Amino acid sequence: MESIWQAGVTLPTFPSYKGDERCEVLIVGGGIAGLLTAYFLHRRGVRYMLIEKDRICGGTTGHTTAKITVQHGLCYDALRERYGTETARVYLHANGAAFRRFAELCEGIDCDYEIADHTVYLTEDRRQLEREMRTLERIDATAEFCERPALPFPTAGGIRFAGQAQFHPLKFLSALVGELNIFERTQLLAVKGNRALTSGGLITAKRIVIATHFPLLNRHGAYFLKLYQHRSYVLALQNAARLDGMYVDGSAHGLSFRNYGDMLLLGGGGHRTGKQGGNWRELRDFAAAHYPNATERYAWAAQDCMSLDGMPYIGAYSRHTPELLVASGFHKWGMTGSMLAAMLLADAVIEKRNEYAPFFTPSRSIFTKQLAANAWESTRNLLSLSTRRCPHMGCALKWNAAEHSWDCPCHGSRFGEDGHVIENPANRDIEP
Ligand code: FES
Repeated sequence: MESIWQAGVTLPTFPSYKGDERCEVLIVGGGIAGLLTAYFLHRRGVRYMLIEKDRICGGTTGHTTAKITVQHGLCYDALRERYGTETARVYLHANGAAFRRFAELCEGIDCDYEIADHTVYLTEDRRQLEREMRTLERIDATAEFCERPALPFPTAGGIRFAGQAQFHPLKFLSALVGELNIFERTQLLAVKGNRALTSGGLITAKRIVIATHFPLLNRHGAYFLKLYQHRSYVLALQNAARLDGMYVDGSAHGLSFRNYGDMLLLGGGGHRTGKQGGNWRELRDFAAAHYPNATERYAWAAQDCMSLDGMPYIGAYSRHTPELLVASGFHKWGMTGSMLAAMLLADAVIEKRNEYAPFFTPSRSIFTKQLAANAWESTRNLLSLSTRRCPHMGCALKWNAAEHSWDCPCHGSRFGEDGHVIENPANRDIEP
């Protein structure tokens, strides 16, 4: 379904690729991470090509809520607990650098960029907020505890980061990509060393960046274990009371709020792809209870790649493939995550040292509770009896009644009623 961003913008179009060319860097994937990487390489005079199998910005980039913030749920105490205070501090600083790069770029672009506070709230478990606040103080974050977030229901409190931002992602990217070396409707079929076979012919590149939302190549990196996908839903409501700032529930299945123009963007109803969840029904029930005079103008859904530890995977695809790079696992915070990925990858391809890069390496330890959950889900769905199987790795597909699609609980591929693949990592259709 068309998002509020897609409804308002006509994106530039690009030709399909045909030929047998060489370049320094091939970027695969025309979402915000790939496009920003291409933009930075373009400015540095690197010879690059970007291929996109359909149209640019057609995936999560066109369906985000477009909040630019360093506050990624209640992530900092979890990072401190897992990796120590220094990693929590680096995560804050790295995302702060991405935030500032957005501010610089948006300055010259008409993309409805505006500064707004961002607050994470909980409806219960104030102690979790207090633990997060203690970690934020330890890493010198400029956040404050908020006793009563200005929301139309009671909470246990919140933590506010002042001076964050929101924008229109497609107006922003439209202005940025016009001069880039992009090929649309060009699908990656295989990678062998530094040669990429595409639907339009061969491309030989010194380095290849996989920025395809879910990394497409199964042979390296074990992304089928390191990632799962999550769907969430958004309504754009007119005549809902205006909120002061952006808000998100810090618990796994809570709501998200921001304004755009005279509309309230209400997000939530999320679930692991292929499982049951509240979807738009939950949001419509909430809107009826809290904004009875509001009118629904848009409804859409987004799909996010979730990493094992909440940090994105940015860097070498695997330990054994230093010239094959990846950006994925933005864990629902894809604006600063993508910008950070583009900054790190643009440095990596010109071999410029970046102090943040080692913290985001995809080769970090994978031993987490989420790894066990991912392995269990995959095993169960591989063994489950069903005639409809996912062409990615063979799991049983589940019918998604809210969106009329066949969804895979293992790694999140989705197929339309007609069998057409609509979300990767699967890269071919199923029988209708
Ligand atoms: Fe991997 Fe379906 S997405 S088996």
